[in-house]
Amino acid sequence: MDVALAIRQKRAIRTFAAKPIRDDDARRILDAGRRAQSSKNTQPWHFVAVRERTTLQALTAAGPFAGHVAGAAMAVVIATPDPAQRWTIPFDAGQAAAYMQLAAWELGIGSCLVAVYEPEAVRALLGIPAELHPYAALSFGYPGDLASLARPPRASGRRPATEVVHWEHW
Ligand SMILES: Cc1cc2nc3c(=O)[nH]c(=O)nc-3n(C[C@H](O)[C@H](O)[C@H](O)COP(=O)(O)O)c2cc1C
Repeated sequence: MDVALAIRQKRAIRTFAAKPIRDDDARRILDAGRRAQSSKNTQPWHFVAVRERTTLQALTAAGPFAGHVAGAAMAVVIATPDPAQRWTIPFDAGQAAAYMQLAAWELGIGSCLVAVYEPEAVRALLGIPAELHPYAALSFGYPGDLASLARPPRASGRRPATEVVHWEHW
């Protein structure tokens, strides 16, 4: 995979085809998250991978923008220690998420992040231990709209470098 192109092309996929993700592809995605860098190599994450349809549907209770999980082939809930302990914890979780999303994209599998507004509902659903906090999840699946994987790199949609990048000094 051309990493630069993948970074430019990847976009959130929220509509999924009714096609399962093969076990080895699911493991490859999860391994990409497991291999992500983290502060002091603490790897402050557990991944709960969900493929049961009824559980995927129930995961839509995670928050107001989690509806796409119902149609996903797989969801991965990222559980971490309390982010209040160290600012690096959600940063690390975000990197694991991004690695999983890029690994999936290489396989032609789309994904979308879910901000978990109802962590206790997710904890109860999945049996996540009390000391861990499921604040983020990902839906994965083959895009319902196949063209979304073949689109040319988008020219817009991100703030321009002139606004974001400050060379040497602000
Ligand atoms: C921390 C974070 C939380 C997000 N939460 C949600 C969410 O709850 N539901 C959703 O549909 N998309 C969510 N997204 C996806 C973003 O809306 C999406 O990545 C952004 O609008 C840019 O679109 P693109 O990825 O297609 O370029 C989230 C993304 C991030 C990084």
